[in-house]
Amino acid sequence: AKVAIFISGGGTNMAALLYASRLPGCPYEIVLVASNREDAGGLTLARAEGIATFAHPHRGMERAEHDKVMERAARDAGAEFIVLAGYMRILSEEFVTRWAGRIVNIHPSLLPKYKGLDTHARAIAAGDSHGGTTVHLVTPELDSGAILQQIEVAILPDDTAEALADRVKLAEHQLYPRALADYVSRGNDPAWLIEQVRQRIA
Ligand code: GRF
Repeated sequence: AKVAIFISGGGTNMAALLYASRLPGCPYEIVLVASNREDAGGLTLARAEGIATFAHPHRGMERAEHDKVMERAARDAGAEFIVLAGYMRILSEEFVTRWAGRIVNIHPSLLPKYKGLDTHARAIAAGDSHGGTTVHLVTPELDSGAILQQIEVAILPDDTAEALADRVKLAEHQLYPRALADYVSRGNDPAWLIEQVRQRIA
């Protein structure tokens, strides 16, 4: 499957997805790394690794209009899936609907807990024993689409949000390539998706 990755920052998850894609048998291929920030560090890495890149700032543009520019780049590159990896933009409902079932995201909490920002600080403040990370499908409502896979990460007694974030990223770098590979291989099968949801409620 051909995937376009959208990033806004350093792109460590993008790098993990990229290097995993070079392992034998990986069912996805990265055809584009695109960003709303021309200075996103991940773009430099993608270029050095021979991946096509695209950047278009969102400043002064309507949300749906900027989404269309990003979408055009993904389609031109032949992408079948859009993979969000630290893409710090909420997507318009129109865009998400056009790509329903074909956009995935990684979020640094054990969803449905702690949607939105500052997930690690909130987990620590709540006295949780574990934080973690979730790969999920993207729907118009933020961080609320079907959960594909999660990893729990223990919170240590003296953890800071930064220290926990670093460990969660280690888990993310394991989780995202595996969850994406599983999804592009099986995610188009409605029976498989229904089984995932059933297991969640059981
Ligand atoms: C990750 O923690 C991801 O869960 C969140 O944004 C962060 C991106 O980090 N959505 P990086 O740019 O991949 O290092």
